[in-house]
Amino acid sequence: MTLTTTGLRKSFGGVVAIDDADVSFLPGRVNALIGPNGSGKTTFFNCVTGMIKPDAGRISYGGRDLTGRAPHVIARAGVGRTFQLCRIFPRLTAIENVLAAVRPGGLLHGLRSAHRRHELERAHHWLTRLGIEHLAGAEARNMSWGQQKLLELAGVLMAEPATILLDEPAGGVNPALLDRIGTLVRELNAEGRTFVIVEHNMDLVMSISDHIVVFDRGRPIAAGPPAEIRADDRVLGAYLGV
Ligand SMILES: Nc1ncnc2c1ncn2[C@@H]1O[C@H](COP(=O)(O)OP(=O)(O)O)[C@@H](O)[C@H]1O
Ligand SMILES: [Mg+2]
Repeated sequence: MTLTTTGLRKSFGGVVAIDDADVSFLPGRVNALIGPNGSGKTTFFNCVTGMIKPDAGRISYGGRDLTGRAPHVIARAGVGRTFQLCRIFPRLTAIENVLAAVRPGGLLHGLRSAHRRHELERAHHWLTRLGIEHLAGAEARNMSWGQQKLLELAGVLMAEPATILLDEPAGGVNPALLDRIGTLVRELNAEGRTFVIVEHNMDLVMSISDHIVVFDRGRPIAAGPPAEIRADDRVLGAYLGV
């Protein structure tokens, strides 16, 4: 389903973080959202996922108006996300974290046993898929930064989102895990999931994206396939501040 914003605006005091942004991310793609620090990428994600309310404009997903809706409504519509500074429970184990992502607070209490077994199997499935099953019983705080990011993604996948927003998935991650994240994104995309990825690692962005939107000062200044974006003077200009 297409994720679209029209005339999206968000200011913090005098700072215009999102400035009349018209953006469209088509389904089936690995989309990237790039731009210099402070250009509004995270704020865009926060608006789209309902964590902050835009001052103006419209957000729609598959034609459905999601503007100003609560985060759980947007999650239920099929949009999942990870955070720039990943959000997990440091003192819970990996498997507990994955389960808590879909049943905050209650873990598995209160579920019928068949359902409980099913949820546990799905949690193990995602840990395995992301290559961290061997850490299922480890406390999250003892995992590496990259492993914690994979753990957060496992939790997001438990909700089976059709569209996944990743905020700097490669930030601070070692090169081996970086490769795995790139491969995983392509695999999950081949299985039908749409991605929107905010990322500074240009090698990764250029190698995994089908479509790139470039933000500068809260609005898109360019959009297109990687080869086109790489050759666009406006993009270089935005990054160099010229
Ligand atoms: N909660 C907030 N309160 C005040 N200013 C904010 C807040 N969130 C973001 N900003 C400001 O909005 C602008 C865009 O920030 P952000 O969306 O985090 O950019 P990016 O993710 O592209 O680095 C920056 O100037 C930032 O300081
Ligand atoms: Mg950010």
